[in-house]
Amino acid sequence: MQHYVAHPAGATCGVIRVPGDKSISHRALMLGGVAEGVTEVRGFLESEDCLATMRAMRALGVNVEQPAPHEVRVHGVGLRGLKAAGRDLDVGNSGTAMRLMCGLLSGQRFDSVLIGDQSLMKRPMERVAAPLRLMGAKIETVEGKPPVRIGAATRPLSAIRYELPVASAQVKSAVLLAGLYGDGPTTTVEPAVTRDHTERMLLSFGCPLETGRGEARLTPPERLTACTLEVPGDFSSAAFFMVAGSIGGGEGLTITHVGVNPTRTGLLEILALMGADIRVVNHRSAGAEPVADIEVRPARLHGVRIPERLVPLAIDEFPVLFIAAACAEGETVVTGAEELRVKESDRIAVMANGLAAMGVECEVLRDGARIQGRPDGPAFAGGEIDSHGDHRVAMSFAVASLRAAAPIRIRDVANVATSFPDFPGVARQAGLDVRLGD
Ligand code: S3P
Repeated sequence: MQHYVAHPAGATCGVIRVPGDKSISHRALMLGGVAEGVTEVRGFLESEDCLATMRAMRALGVNVEQPAPHEVRVHGVGLRGLKAAGRDLDVGNSGTAMRLMCGLLSGQRFDSVLIGDQSLMKRPMERVAAPLRLMGAKIETVEGKPPVRIGAATRPLSAIRYELPVASAQVKSAVLLAGLYGDGPTTTVEPAVTRDHTERMLLSFGCPLETGRGEARLTPPERLTACTLEVPGDFSSAAFFMVAGSIGGGEGLTITHVGVNPTRTGLLEILALMGADIRVVNHRSAGAEPVADIEVRPARLHGVRIPERLVPLAIDEFPVLFIAAACAEGETVVTGAEELRVKESDRIAVMANGLAAMGVECEVLRDGARIQGRPDGPAFAGGEIDSHGDHRVAMSFAVASLRAAAPIRIRDVANVATSFPDFPGVARQAGLDVRLGD
């Protein structure tokens, strides 16, 4: 089993760039696959999760070329051109791949079965199966979990207006993708704002879609038209370095070409409330998505009660936010974040265990945690923690090493490759001392 050893380095400095956005890379493959024409994607993330989606689309008959690093060319087969895979589609660790594929496959005239790794096979899938069933999809889970079996559609799906019970971009996206095969306009209504990459990209492919007041209304198009897409750096990967630059000593860091879609940047607001010194500069756009450079300087953070409205806008950033909280003066309180329990691991329990192992006081709540920070000197004792195969937990404890009294050994880190293939290399460029062991 792979592990990292992260030695206390203390100082961050330099200019770094993080790999492409995972959410956008998945969507580019799926929408490009059912568009007409060739979609060129630049800045594509070649991580295990996105490669799983690539394999699935290939198994469904889509030719995907990789002409150069971070570039893909998707030869779309049209909305009705996908073919039965003839075998189970294994999407590895990726919840996004599985849930979005459920939507896309619900409208196809062939059967499909979706499976994944040990972690994914335990994650809830009824949240997508239920609305898709309302649309007439023949979709079955096993006690709410994968394998997900999707029967051939024999007629167009029924258009629905669906009020999401949870704030989830994956559920919203699955319904919208199924809506491409609907008999009329499909509307999603979300209880809180979630990432809107699907909506933006559907528009880039020429799909009629209206958005506003938490609603997205998709009119089934005759076709999607191939386009050129530029994938910005993943805000969620940059997040590790926003916290690193804040809690470490030294000059701080600049992270270039980061996607700053406002439905993703809740961490910036939370860190600002905590007293961080972060500037977002050089705003520009990468097609439908806003991009900027992020300058981070070390700062004395203080604990806050995190506003619940920011939770969905920072949902993947909580593991590293727990690390920031452990370095802040006073208490940080997270509530309204029960969704963290159904991510790649139960992120409330796994982070709390890791923090406790590092000597940090952390009280577990049903829907969050209370973390007592130490603003001066080392905040973490060092020693060993188990990431439970969760990429973001592993990277978060690597960041913690900046304020550790002794090296941190992080177990079970192979899944970092699901989202951030060369994390140790980029981390070392930023001044951290993280190395892979066996
Ligand atoms: C994602 C949505 C979020 C996020 C996940 C990626 C997406 O999941 O946690 O990493 O690409 O739509 P939920 O929709 O379950 O909140």
